[in-house]
Amino acid sequence: MKKLLHIDASARRSDNLTAEYNSISKSIAATFTDKWRTTNSEDIIIYRDVGVNPPDFISQDWIAAVFTPDDARTDAQKALLSLSDTLIEEVEQADIILISSSMYNYGMPAALKAWFDQVIRINKTFSFDLARGDFPLEPIMSGKTLVLITSSGEFGFEIGGIREKMNHLGPHIQTLSHYLGAETFHEINAEYQEFNDNRHTSSVKSGHKAAEDLAYKLASS
Ligand SMILES: Cc1cc2nc3c(=O)[nH]c(=O)nc-3n(C[C@H](O)[C@H](O)[C@H](O)COP(=O)(O)O)c2cc1C
Repeated sequence: MKKLLHIDASARRSDNLTAEYNSISKSIAATFTDKWRTTNSEDIIIYRDVGVNPPDFISQDWIAAVFTPDDARTDAQKALLSLSDTLIEEVEQADIILISSSMYNYGMPAALKAWFDQVIRINKTFSFDLARGDFPLEPIMSGKTLVLITSSGEFGFEIGGIREKMNHLGPHIQTLSHYLGAETFHEINAEYQEFNDNRHTSSVKSGHKAAEDLAYKLASS
């Protein structure tokens, strides 16, 4: 039985009375999970909408708690790390991590960055050893697949595209996916939202189709 961890990150909801206000990235991610469920209904989905319920930002006390050995932590420090512990457990359980994200200011929403900051944690998701030379960090988990679904207002963020160098969303999350134990990375992008023209309609349609095909492939493999 495979487990899917689904994280949505847009600040927009997907149940607005006016459909055009709905999040595009959440809607394409929902197509993915719908197909996932119908392909293998026994697979378990853990869901978090960090756009609507953002995790706390980390703080100086949080960092001090992380660097305090497990058996020396005060009750207050344990409490401060409890959200991080829970979010990491959810990642540990997952075979597939599905993240949907808007592009905000050419990168990920702050709420999603807050989630990554809570999850990528020394001695929990990565180890640190200077004996490894210039690359002392290594992920502790392995074998996972990360699927990233994004929506942007502009276009051309792909490799070779006219805004490739402005893309701090997909490449950033792909770099971080390594520390979640992801060894395979898939990305689906809907673009042109701000142009609201045929290119946008076609990009969203292709995004839904790609999400359905990928969900079927991953759920049946
Ligand atoms: C605060 C904010 C910042 C944005 N910044 C960018 C940007 O840097 N580049 C871009 O292409 N689109 C940008 N957009 C447009 C969104 O990426 C676009 O509306 C996308 O569809 C949002 O995702 P969603 O539909 O899942 O909510 C921005 C939108 C907002 C609200």
